[in-house]
Amino acid sequence: MNSKKPVIVYGASGYTGRLVCEYLREMNVPFIAAGRDGARVQAVVDKVPGVETADYEVVEVAHDVAALTALFEGARVVCNMVGPFIKFGPEVVQACLATGCHYMDTTGEQDWVLSAQENWGAAFAAKGLLLSPGIAQMYTTGEIAANICLESPGLDTLDILVLWKGFPTYASTQTIFTILKAKWYYLEQNKFLEWPSNTTFEVAVPGQHATALAVPWGGTSHPIWFKNDPRVANVKVQGGVTAREVMQGVIATQKMFDEQIKPLPIAEQEAQLTAIANSIQAAMPPRENPRINTSIDSVMASGPLGRAHCIIHGNCNYKQTGLLQAYSAYSLLQQAPRRAGFASACQAFGHRELLGILKSFGLVMEPILSVHR
Ligand SMILES: NC(=O)c1ccc[n+]([C@@H]2O[C@H](COP(=O)([O-])OP(=O)(O)OC[C@H]3O[C@@H](n4cnc5c(N)ncnc54)[C@H](OP(=O)(O)O)[C@@H]3O)[C@@H](O)[C@H]2O)c1
Repeated sequence: MNSKKPVIVYGASGYTGRLVCEYLREMNVPFIAAGRDGARVQAVVDKVPGVETADYEVVEVAHDVAALTALFEGARVVCNMVGPFIKFGPEVVQACLATGCHYMDTTGEQDWVLSAQENWGAAFAAKGLLLSPGIAQMYTTGEIAANICLESPGLDTLDILVLWKGFPTYASTQTIFTILKAKWYYLEQNKFLEWPSNTTFEVAVPGQHATALAVPWGGTSHPIWFKNDPRVANVKVQGGVTAREVMQGVIATQKMFDEQIKPLPIAEQEAQLTAIANSIQAAMPPRENPRINTSIDSVMASGPLGRAHCIIHGNCNYKQTGLLQAYSAYSLLQQAPRRAGFASACQAFGHRELLGILKSFGLVMEPILSVHR
């Protein structure tokens, strides 16, 4: 009998990896908590409440295809938390393909989602394996809201707003800066069109009188997930954090990037962005508090003769991410994904099922839905 624990959490020493371990424990799923520094992984996992009742091991592993392949051999699902994924993802995907493991990560980076689809989508599909970059609050919760709108037929346009209140982690900050180098796309009549740089929006925030400042936030994953969905032809996304001063900083950084860093060779761009990100966020943010860390995912869907608006109010977006990853792994241990190869969380597991799990753990409210046709 295969004694290998079926789920690997890679990057378990990070803020999100630890939360995935917490929820795997609550679902009674045996797991390996892996990372480049075994002592750091152990120290983090030791702080998981109730860890003494979890069935887990800690393993140190080098970040290369051979070492990761050796670790994944005999396992079934890999939850990858080592981002930015455009930098660190390929080795993990290749090791999953070599060992027949389903691959999931938490990316919000459009360029990584596109490259994963293009480079490995067909190979994963051929093996019946899931390749799902981006099972996370940003942007699965918005995808759930979009799919609730699309339950009403005849709507072909998605106008999406994703907002959260909190502090980005170290790797999230690195990711926010890494995506400055990429092109950002929205979907118009089933074609990707590039957002002009320095696009900003003043958005009406559902449930409050004040407006907020938002940006295309790297384009997000939604245009890619809905590109081949025959119901949808147009997708535009606006996103950010609710703190206006943080968004003003993001916009100033984007401007500085365009003027001063973009003209440099790509390697130099990378080094400068990493240095700026390091200067902003080097420490682990505090554990989320539902009274402080709220999230809003709002989707207005429209068509020639129909409108729908779905709002999901939630809290603790890193916890939402941890839970979505753990539930997806738990589901894959019991049944095949609804779609193999490249697929979003909703395509692989169902939007109503994912909503149900987020609600059952107290992380989102029942969506507010209005439909007019
Ligand atoms: N879309 C969303 O809603 C969402 C939500 C949560 C997270 N995320 C993404 O998920 C990723 C992880 O986030 P996080 O909050 O867990 O960040 P974090 O706390 O900074 O953790 C990053 C993890 O990656 C590991 N790591 C970093 N560089 C590595 C390398 N070169 N080789 C091997 N391991 C390396 C770290 O290991 P050490 O401890 O050894 O440094 C740590 O385990 C980020 O890219 C973030 O943007 C997205």
